[in-house]
Amino acid sequence: MVYENIVLIGFMGSGKTSVGKVLSRHMFKDFVDVDSIIEEEQNCSITEIFETKGEEYFRTLEQKCINELTQQKGRIIATGGGLPIFSKISEKSLIVFIDADFDVILKRLPAKERAKRPLLEDELKARALFDERIDTYKELANFRVDANQHIPTFIHVVLDHVLDQRIL
Ligand code: S3P
Repeated sequence: MVYENIVLIGFMGSGKTSVGKVLSRHMFKDFVDVDSIIEEEQNCSITEIFETKGEEYFRTLEQKCINELTQQKGRIIATGGGLPIFSKISEKSLIVFIDADFDVILKRLPAKERAKRPLLEDELKARALFDERIDTYKELANFRVDANQHIPTFIHVVLDHVLDQRIL
């Protein structure tokens, strides 16, 4: 199988952006982050979008963004944690699941980063969301990496795997 793009999925704070940036450097491919594109296009933060327009509206922006991105080839795309739950991702993408446990994520994520994520505000609800989503992430993934390890270690596991694949 020849893939057109690499799409990184996983729960909030699992390390998708960190992985994406390293893959991009090593593979000489562009890195794009769906959340950042939406924030730039809307000219406001994800938190503001959730507050003023609501989650449903945000989900329509995500679907539109991932559709546009996967119409082109050769990119490393980091998604928001809810994107694969609510949006369809092109089957021509190599989907990599960054699989970190909820407690590991909470321990790793600085307060500043946590504050940027409206769905992480309430820890109990966030844990329930994590449990709800995990099976979908697993089902969609072409490759899953155990992201409970030291960050540079699992990034290299992903890199070794994707370098063996054919990406356009
Ligand atoms: C969300 C994850 C966030 C962002 C938004 C909603 C989710 O992205 O898209 O706050 O539903 O899991 P990260 O996964 O990059 O934190």
